[in-house]
Amino acid sequence: MRIISTERSQVLAARVAEKLGIPLVETKFTRFPDGEMYLRCGELDDETLIVSSIVDNDMFVQTLLAIDAADRSRNTLVVPYLGYSRQDRRFFPGEPISARAIARALSTGIERAFVVNVHDPVDLDFFGVPAKNVSIAPAIGGYIGDLHLKNPLVLAPDEGAIAFATDVAAVGGWDCDHLEKTRLSGEEVRIAPKTIDAAGRDTVIVDDIISTGGTLATAACMLREQGAASIHAACVHGVLTSGAYTRLRAAGISSVVSSDTYENASSFISSASAIATAIREDAHC
Ligand code: R5P
Repeated sequence: MRIISTERSQVLAARVAEKLGIPLVETKFTRFPDGEMYLRCGELDDETLIVSSIVDNDMFVQTLLAIDAADRSRNTLVVPYLGYSRQDRRFFPGEPISARAIARALSTGIERAFVVNVHDPVDLDFFGVPAKNVSIAPAIGGYIGDLHLKNPLVLAPDEGAIAFATDVAAVGGWDCDHLEKTRLSGEEVRIAPKTIDAAGRDTVIVDDIISTGGTLATAACMLREQGAASIHAACVHGVLTSGAYTRLRAAGISSVVSSDTYENASSFISSASAIATAIREDAHC
């Protein structure tokens, strides 16, 4: 088996190659004069692992090109970050189910897929091949342990992130809760941990995605008002759009980290071990 990646997943692909002890194949990326994308992979063998986060439209096209370049081998697609996954249902008539459209298109030319902390399990069902979730909750927990906080309180920003936060907190046997929104009046909303008092506590908010940072910035302001001793944030996919990083730091969050599923300056946590383990353990191998 050999590994190729698209342009925005090169670091992670190299890490996965190292963990699996298999060759990373060089791939060159350029464009035609009209802007259309072009890539060329080095020599592949009869099995290829394609590592490609769908961080934008270009990476979606590049993924399709990479799968096609490997059309003579049996292909496994690792999608560390599955863009478009939050539009996983039809909220209004006339809308597409974007997650389904993307997953269907990616399924041609591959035998199986892995997605890291998929936004909703339903997204996996949209693939036309067997698709599995890979959780990096243990790696996020490991990062929190390295912060050496005293008795940290792990918080999910909403109910949707409870299962993930519970898995993260289990790493260190830390307290875990989720933030709940209570409407106090027409204009006033209170966001606070449902059962555990945050006053005097070192808190870590964990989530699958930080996009605009709106969810976490609001939560951080409330936690500060409630007397939290410190506030940290750790997420899987650091999309960090529209100045989200500075927004979060300005909201009083002391550290904001994410994983290499979305490569950027804050992606200190690696998903490579979890991906390599999932691939090794899959019955297909
Ligand atoms: C929501 O369902 C997700 O889990 C994240 O909480 C959300 O996507 C974060 O978005 P933003 O950073 O823009 O608030």
